[in-house]
Amino acid sequence: MPHKTILITGASSGIGAALARAYARADVTLLLWGRDVARLNDVAAACRAQGATVTTQLFDLRDVVGFARLLGAVPPLDIAIFNAGLGGSAPADVLAETPEAAQALAEVNFTAPVVGANVIAGAMAQRGAGHIVLVGSITESFPLPMAPTYSATKAGLKLFAEALGIRMARHGVKVSLVSPGFIDTPMSRQVIEPKPFLMTPDACAAIIVRKIAAGARTIVVPWQFAVIRGFSGLLPRPLLRWILSRL
Ligand SMILES: NC(=O)c1ccc[n+]([C@@H]2O[C@H](COP(=O)([O-])OP(=O)(O)OC[C@H]3O[C@@H](n4cnc5c(N)ncnc54)[C@H](OP(=O)(O)O)[C@@H]3O)[C@@H](O)[C@H]2O)c1
Repeated sequence: MPHKTILITGASSGIGAALARAYARADVTLLLWGRDVARLNDVAAACRAQGATVTTQLFDLRDVVGFARLLGAVPPLDIAIFNAGLGGSAPADVLAETPEAAQALAEVNFTAPVVGANVIAGAMAQRGAGHIVLVGSITESFPLPMAPTYSATKAGLKLFAEALGIRMARHGVKVSLVSPGFIDTPMSRQVIEPKPFLMTPDACAAIIVRKIAAGARTIVVPWQFAVIRGFSGLLPRPLLRWILSRL
């Protein structure tokens, strides 16, 4: 297999850490980016033990300009996975999400990955090869009343991934969107509601790696959420809104 260079943002935790471990082997260079230095170093050490060449980078997606600058200096990438993200819901007993929380969600989950993917898309298009992967959420398909901003950022990312994919196809660059349901990570552990079809990060990462290798444009994990999404898409919108208002 030819040597591959793979960037993973949010590699210090959850799905990103599991993806790093899933990709780690001797013919792979991993660029692992995160905020928490101790957890990031632990993941890097595990990946090196599996034979991978690893560099780490601390970064903050709230500094979008700094993020773009860092991305402008990375070596040529085969795969860039924009996985880092922020969870966020507002319980029914508060009137609305705070403006600060909404801004953080918008920057971390939408602005930064969109800006970053554009930086990498330009570099990959110039080389005529590469694969950009954006991690969204199954919530992109549902107007969730407990998380209006979170679901909107992921819906925006979904449309962006599709549009960028169409634009990049003629340049030999693939774009995929991953839409997780419930994956057992620190983010989902903050959700107190039932979590159907909960999956481990390692099982989720194994599916994502296999589907990326197969060139899948959309990846829903676990698959049951693709069925739920398909079924809910058949419902009249007012009925869907009524059901969601009961959650
Ligand atoms: N878990 C689920 O059920 C689920 C469902 C749907 C979608 N997702 C999506 O999957 C992705 C990964 O989530 P996860 O479940 O693995 O969550 P996680 O375990 O909480 O990990 C989130 C990652 O994002 C990084 N991050 C958060 N804010 C950041 C910022 N401002 N700057 C830089 N990095 C930041 C974190 O860095 P540090 O830890 O170093 O601070 C961490 O590496 C997210 O995009 C999330 O929306 C997850």
